[in-house]
Amino acid sequence: MNIKIRNILKKKNKSKIVCLTAYSKNIAKILDNHCDIVLVGDSMANVLYGLEDTHKLNLETVINHTLSVKKGIKKSLLIVDMPKGTYNNKKKAKKNAKLIMKLTKCDAVKLESNKKNFNIIKELVKSKIPVMGHIGYTPQYKKKFKIEGQSSYAANKLLKEAKLIEKAGAFSIVLECLTPNSSALITKNINIPTIGIGSSNQCDGQILVTDDMLGMSGFYPKFVKKYALLNRTIEKAVKKYTRDVKKGIFPQKKNFLNGTKFK
Ligand code: KIV
Repeated sequence: MNIKIRNILKKKNKSKIVCLTAYSKNIAKILDNHCDIVLVGDSMANVLYGLEDTHKLNLETVINHTLSVKKGIKKSLLIVDMPKGTYNNKKKAKKNAKLIMKLTKCDAVKLESNKKNFNIIKELVKSKIPVMGHIGYTPQYKKKFKIEGQSSYAANKLLKEAKLIEKAGAFSIVLECLTPNSSALITKNINIPTIGIGSSNQCDGQILVTDDMLGMSGFYPKFVKKYALLNRTIEKAVKKYTRDVKKGIFPQKKNFLNGTKFK
């Protein structure tokens, strides 16, 4: 087993697992110094491409962004989201997951559970492709946002799903938008790490979409803490640049290329 994955597994019940998303090199390089896991999420469909959902994102786009992210990653475990429609049968899943792994040299793929695709996970794991599962609110399969696991019946159904994903061989599972009770129930009753998003602190680790936590995306549900307000910072810089250009203050002599020095 990949040493990075082994290290993630060892953290269960010991220390929290830190994860964020990245879609390009410069951000990945910053995350790599701090995160255990960097995910090239299909959330790029909404965040980068302004699409309404993740359904039309294609494999080529995800692979291209991963190639960029990979250039910034040295230490973190790099996981790639398989886009909707790229893993709906065993043969297709295997072909596409192998392609992702071969072209990007990532460490693992993530796929969303539709409560039936446990055999797909099993097939990928059998082919030595490490898989991260994803349950609860799964944007590829659900149209409407909903908090999952509200009744004890629903929480137990989610636990059953998580156990089947674990049995299929996944090395960890994302829990998206689960109640604290259902997150705790799952985290306590499976042996692989749970990574929460909008699922309270009752998980082995946490993930957020980086653009959300940096205050860049405009998407700020209750579970997102804004650690920066980059939209404001960028706007300030752009305003200053606009003013300088209009006033002829930029570029200054020090910015001219009239010697031999480029830098
Ligand atoms: O696509 C994504 O960014 C994700 C995370 C939110 C877990 O799946």
